[in-house]
Amino acid sequence: MAERERLICAASDLPEAGKGVRFELTRCGQPQPAFVVRYGGQPRAFLNQCGHVPVELDWQEGEFFDHSRLYLICSVHGALYHPASGHCVGGRCAGRGLSPVPVVERDGQVYVLETA
Ligand code: FES
Repeated sequence: MAERERLICAASDLPEAGKGVRFELTRCGQPQPAFVVRYGGQPRAFLNQCGHVPVELDWQEGEFFDHSRLYLICSVHGALYHPASGHCVGGRCAGRGLSPVPVVERDGQVYVLETA
């Protein structure tokens, strides 16, 4: 299957450990909510679905980081995820991490890689 890139946002829309950008991804013909944040200088994207209960993480649109700005947090029960890998690092996710989504940054733009 061929991969294609789809523009999500400008690179400048993603401050380090700051507000993220929500977008939709199509998987198996179904729309899936996803998001991208910047961490460690790189865009990091995941399906917007908690490992505890399959709900979206952000309590206010685009707010995915906890107060320390070190972890992604689920707004419902506070599960914590590592922003580089999506691995569960604490709380009710109980080892179930976020699903990574491939993204690339090029020429000041951030793109999601989708399978056509
Ligand atoms: S639904 Fe996310 S921690 Fe419970």
